[in-house]
Amino acid sequence: GTPLRIAIDGPAASGKSTLAQRLAAHLGYTYIDTGVMYRAVTWAALRRGISPEDAEALTHLAESLDLDIQRPTVADGRPYTVIVEGEDVTWELRRPEVDAAVSQVSAHPGVRQALSQRQRQLGLRGRVVMVGRDIGTVVLPEADLKIYLDADLETRARRRYQELRERGQAVSFEEVLEAMRQRDALDQGREVAPLRPAPDAVVLDTTALDIEEVFQKVVALIEARC
Ligand code: C5P
Repeated sequence: GTPLRIAIDGPAASGKSTLAQRLAAHLGYTYIDTGVMYRAVTWAALRRGISPEDAEALTHLAESLDLDIQRPTVADGRPYTVIVEGEDVTWELRRPEVDAAVSQVSAHPGVRQALSQRQRQLGLRGRVVMVGRDIGTVVLPEADLKIYLDADLETRARRRYQELRERGQAVSFEEVLEAMRQRDALDQGREVAPLRPAPDAVVLDTTALDIEEVFQKVVALIEARC
């Protein structure tokens, strides 16, 4: 039958969230972006002056953070609204300061345990397209379809650079490339739940594909499994 739980993993700007949103709309499933949770913890830590090295304080924050991910009531160009302690932080979570600290925060085992537990509960409800770094390997290893999206670093950095410029952020391409290189290295090199394809994931390289081509390939995969 149609896969009820779809896991999409891969590095930053590999096209995961765009693909997942389109698939979720196509199938009538819930889109869940797990990176938002790590970003929310990171944002709250920065605001409180908690160091990205303070495992104990970060674990406590991840376990207790008042985090609400709402579906938008109007089509305002975002797939969800993120409320942390009553404040709309949807765009704050995309700031370069959060990008720079999030991989360090999310490497702490206690932080991962708290968040992946929340994510697993959401995923087990089914009819979900869940996106992250460790969904197919750790959060939902029983997912019916696992996709691992990849693309070369330059291509991903160019995509992210364009997004940031469109949102009016003054960044250079070199900065974006370097930040992404560092985040990749930390996400792939950490001890707990490093970024890597699950053994049973379908790996798609999107370097030379546009989003429509990626979407069509995955729809064909889903249809082949029904
Ligand atoms: O997907 P996004 O780029 O928003 O994720 C931000 C960061 O959160 C990643 O670079 C990674 O450090 C962390 N993350 C993670 N596990 C996930 C999702 C995100 O460690 N499932």
